[in-house]
Amino acid sequence: MKKQQKTAFFCQNCGYESPKWVGKCPGCGEWNRFAEEPTGTKDPRVPPEYQLGEKPRPIDTVEADEKARIKTGIAEMDRVLGGGIVAGSAILVGGDPGIGKSTLLLQALHRLAEGGRRVLYVSGEESASQIRLRADRIGAASKNLYVLVEVALENILRYVRDVAPEAIVIDSIQTVHSSLLSSAPGSVGQVRESSERLIILSKKTGIPVFLVGHVTKDGSIAGPKVLEHMVDTVLYFEGDTGHSYRIIRGIKNRFGPTNEIGVFEMRDRGLVEVSNPSEYFLTERPEGMAGSVVVAAIEGTRPILVEIQALVTGTSFGMPRRTAIGVDANRVSLLVAVLDKIGGLHLGNHDIFVNVAGGVRLAEPAADMGIVAAIASSFLDRPVDPKTVVFGEVGLTGEIRGINRMEVRIREAARMGFARCVLPRTQFRGGAATDEGIELVRVDHLRGLMEQIF
Ligand code: TYD
Ligand code: MG
Repeated sequence: MKKQQKTAFFCQNCGYESPKWVGKCPGCGEWNRFAEEPTGTKDPRVPPEYQLGEKPRPIDTVEADEKARIKTGIAEMDRVLGGGIVAGSAILVGGDPGIGKSTLLLQALHRLAEGGRRVLYVSGEESASQIRLRADRIGAASKNLYVLVEVALENILRYVRDVAPEAIVIDSIQTVHSSLLSSAPGSVGQVRESSERLIILSKKTGIPVFLVGHVTKDGSIAGPKVLEHMVDTVLYFEGDTGHSYRIIRGIKNRFGPTNEIGVFEMRDRGLVEVSNPSEYFLTERPEGMAGSVVVAAIEGTRPILVEIQALVTGTSFGMPRRTAIGVDANRVSLLVAVLDKIGGLHLGNHDIFVNVAGGVRLAEPAADMGIVAAIASSFLDRPVDPKTVVFGEVGLTGEIRGINRMEVRIREAARMGFARCVLPRTQFRGGAATDEGIELVRVDHLRGLMEQIF
């Protein structure tokens, strides 16, 4: 009789193993993530990457090799990586489906291939001819760029040895599976096993590996949170499919800064770098119209000027509507209440719509002053001076609170040719920023803000 296969339950988020099904994962606290998978079916033959051992040695005999970074030639990407790809590093690139992960990585590989390096693009999602079509579209058909359509891990590892590339992209890690495990492709066990062996290969050979990871509805990289711990660098490719701008954001980086971003625009011939994001986001601004205000925000480590728009109209029937795109809707409700009670604007029976132009998402309180100013401007039907930038947090009593990195924001506003900056009075130190040739107007209350902008 065939021996019955042993199974256990694994958390599809963090990999926690349990003999029984449980609702809440004791490992990561997520609900309803357990799925049954076979256990103990690992082949006793040790995979070859595990066999080559290295002896322990004193740290002073180890070479530091800081120079071993490969530049992709895409400046926005190199910056997020901390100056280029580190040899032997594993980089996870996450993002929503259709956002442009495959396009970005194909472009990066193409740049490397053009520089005379042999590179390998492994796809488990598209056929070779589909990849060729995309490559033609973005002008990436280079003879040093090798394409492999394969999902079996063992085959991929063998071809890597044959081709000996200088960089590998695995698109996506969820499609790769090992024949040593009997669980289904895409399950946490398979993803972990495949990533682990690819990472070991990368460490042993020094070939950098990009792993593309799908993102689930709740925004985490599908299934294995464990993956984020295993790799050296985690990048997220974000954006709104309805808009053409895309941001690549460093979430974790063992070899460089985190929270750094790169900005791209998706065009019909691939991704194009946006080296001056403020200019890009302000190009379509309707100057001198009521309801439009420019704020200085910080994305990653960079200041970006963006336009906040508001439209306030009388409610025709029923409950007034409050709609916010690009900013937190609760934050907008709170600011509307402050404007109503403290600012004396009777917004009670008005529909209010707030939108951040260009599809940008602003999560910092610095945007408060912009939201308030835009709503007031639309309600009063009085435009805010188009050469004015505002930023600052608005408190519940109408006080304007200080925020971080004010000088950087002021400098960006000055660089973009703005004449006036309305900012919090508190916490402001140093006059260096006034040298930038921009007038600084400091306010400490909503009333002061209203006086200054209208
Ligand atoms: P893709 O790289 O396939 O996304 P992902 O790998 O993250 O799923 O990008 C697909 C989208 O990008 C698709 O909607 C078409 C668009 N696109 C362009 O707009 N211009 C281009 O040059 C390319 C190649 C794709
Ligand atoms: Mg893809």
